[in-house]
Amino acid sequence: MEFNELIQHRQSGRKYQNKPVESGKIEKLIEAVHLAPSACNSQPWKLIIVDEPEIKNEVAKATFNKAISFNKFALEAPVIAVLVIEKAKTIAQIGGFIKNQEYPQYDIGIAAAHFCLQAEELGLGTCMIGWFDEKKIQQLLNIPQKRKIGLLITLGYPPEGYKKRKKIRKPLDEICGFNSY
Ligand SMILES: Cc1cc2nc3c(=O)[nH]c(=O)nc-3n(C[C@H](O)[C@H](O)[C@H](O)COP(=O)(O)O)c2cc1C
Repeated sequence: MEFNELIQHRQSGRKYQNKPVESGKIEKLIEAVHLAPSACNSQPWKLIIVDEPEIKNEVAKATFNKAISFNKFALEAPVIAVLVIEKAKTIAQIGGFIKNQEYPQYDIGIAAAHFCLQAEELGLGTCMIGWFDEKKIQQLLNIPQKRKIGLLITLGYPPEGYKKRKKIRKPLDEICGFNSY
């Protein structure tokens, strides 16, 4: 797929077939995260692939509750990838402090984008999830409490004929300026 086609096609998938994801495809997704750029090449992330059904279901259950149930679809996904934010290199920490920027947050966002675009090319659906019970997932996956979880990404095959939605985006002049704000 051409890159332009890839970014047109990718959308957040909230329905999945009950079908496992092949290990060869998982390896390609890991490589896509491995090659992502980061501030000072810190690579401040750890990717945890959760594909063991019982653990995966417990992680999925940590993304919704009775009151806030919009992430219930996570139960359908055969895989959930968890991006943990690791400590950045000292040079990136100093740079971030001086410039008042949280570089690792950007870094994991880029890594997540690599993951989702690679998945799209492989015919897989993804949805980034930023709403979850961090403590519960830390406990489930043995993640140290001092490590923040940046994002979860559901992964799996979309149902046959899963409809592509029209992209809802702000007008271009709101998100882009030439030579001035
Ligand atoms: C940081 C981040 C957090 C998100 N969290 C959630 C979430 O908790 N649940 C959900 O259904 N979608 C979530 N999304 C998906 C967005 O809703 C989606 O990307 C946006 O509406 C644009 O739609 P599209 O991805 O289909 O183009 C998240 C996306 C990002 C980048």
